[in-house]
Amino acid sequence: MTDTNKSIHGEWSSRFAFILAATGSAVGLGNIWKFPYITGENGGGAFVLVYLLCVLAIGIPIMIAEIMLGRRGRQSPINTMTALAEEAQVDPRWHYLGWLGVVAGFLILSYYSVIAGWAISYVLKAFFGGFSGADAGEISDMFANLVSSPVQLVFWHSLFIFATMAIVRQGVSGGLEKAVRFLMPTLFIILILLVGYAMTTGFYQRGLDFMFSPDFSQIDSDAILTAMGHAFFTLSLGMGAIMVYGSYLPSHISIAKTALYIAGADTVVALLAGIAIFPIVFANGLEPGSGPGLIFQTLPIAFGNMTGGWLFGVLFFVLLVFAALSSSISLIEPAVAWLVENKNMERYQACVWAGGLTWVLGVAVAFSFNIWSDVTLFDKSIFDLLDYLTANLMLPIGGFCIAVFAGWMMKQQHAKEELEMADGQFTLWRLLVSYVAPAAVFVVFLRVLGVV
Ligand code: PFF
Ligand code: NA
Repeated sequence: MTDTNKSIHGEWSSRFAFILAATGSAVGLGNIWKFPYITGENGGGAFVLVYLLCVLAIGIPIMIAEIMLGRRGRQSPINTMTALAEEAQVDPRWHYLGWLGVVAGFLILSYYSVIAGWAISYVLKAFFGGFSGADAGEISDMFANLVSSPVQLVFWHSLFIFATMAIVRQGVSGGLEKAVRFLMPTLFIILILLVGYAMTTGFYQRGLDFMFSPDFSQIDSDAILTAMGHAFFTLSLGMGAIMVYGSYLPSHISIAKTALYIAGADTVVALLAGIAIFPIVFANGLEPGSGPGLIFQTLPIAFGNMTGGWLFGVLFFVLLVFAALSSSISLIEPAVAWLVENKNMERYQACVWAGGLTWVLGVAVAFSFNIWSDVTLFDKSIFDLLDYLTANLMLPIGGFCIAVFAGWMMKQQHAKEELEMADGQFTLWRLLVSYVAPAAVFVVFLRVLGVV
């Protein structure tokens, strides 16, 4: 476990390769599908502000910690935590943190895949000219037709799980690095084009106001929890995904700079998606809080009415599927790495098990949008429940534990060795990771429980 150790699963070819993969994990449906609709549901500006604060004060310090733990442990999150707990001479039960992550990744992928399936089906709709000239009503009907069909949802979900497992089977580098290198810049350009379209709707300012003028009467403690949970979700934190990727990171690469870069790229993509979507929402008299269908009910209107819309529409949904894939592989990689290390499985076999289990749960999620829509627990559908459980509870708890481990359990000298930061920066990071981040998560939980 010296810092010259290499991971048995391979190593990134460079810092840039790691940035690409980690950015690929971070940038996904969370930015383009989830961020706009939860912003809409939670009233806009104040929610966005809380989310941004959480990224800065909680997300970035924990991302640094998570990458650092991964690189020092050099194994799957469960075995990394076992090794690091031993090195720090603390309770071996810290390895349950790795377990929490494996389970969270599996649960998230089961619904992530269903939504990614929507995006795949929209590639075809775009390709066959389905958006051309359509008004908001027709676009909404199109979406309603899709989600009300269990057969279609299961079909696209199956395709997405299959694609994910096929990539994971190959191992994490190689194809992925290349895909992300092309993906990110192109996605960025299309988002800018969509923002350009939003400017022509006459409701651009209204959209900006919605997103950026905070009205705190719009949010309660549950909205704050959602914003904080989303900071973890969007940065892929709190479940070992970034830890696994960190374990393939070569030594002597600046972790802090890398984390800033990834969080910056992720935030920019989310904000651009929101800036593109809300003007279209208002221009067409749609509801900002209309839920998970928001991007599918708005962006097609833009593609159907802008010049070059056919091409951009096809390209956009193709890229969205790729962005989802580069995230989904990191959701299941902790489970696969663990099966390979501990259950003596071949990578192929591990993929069949992990993929099969996710597929089954995903089918239940697909049904929760139609035939099982009245199956609820705590007033939430299967989809809502899984989303709440993972993003709002498991990831923040996982992140809290990562912060506590890095800030309090690990020998400060080891953290310092691994991070190679200047003294002032290191002190700032320690402050954030030992006090600010854990206290913030704790207080938000207490508020939601009604204790404070
Ligand atoms: N960060 C991804 C997104 O924003 O779409 C989702 C995600 C990927 C969450 C990997 C957690 C994770 F471990
Ligand atoms: Na993200």
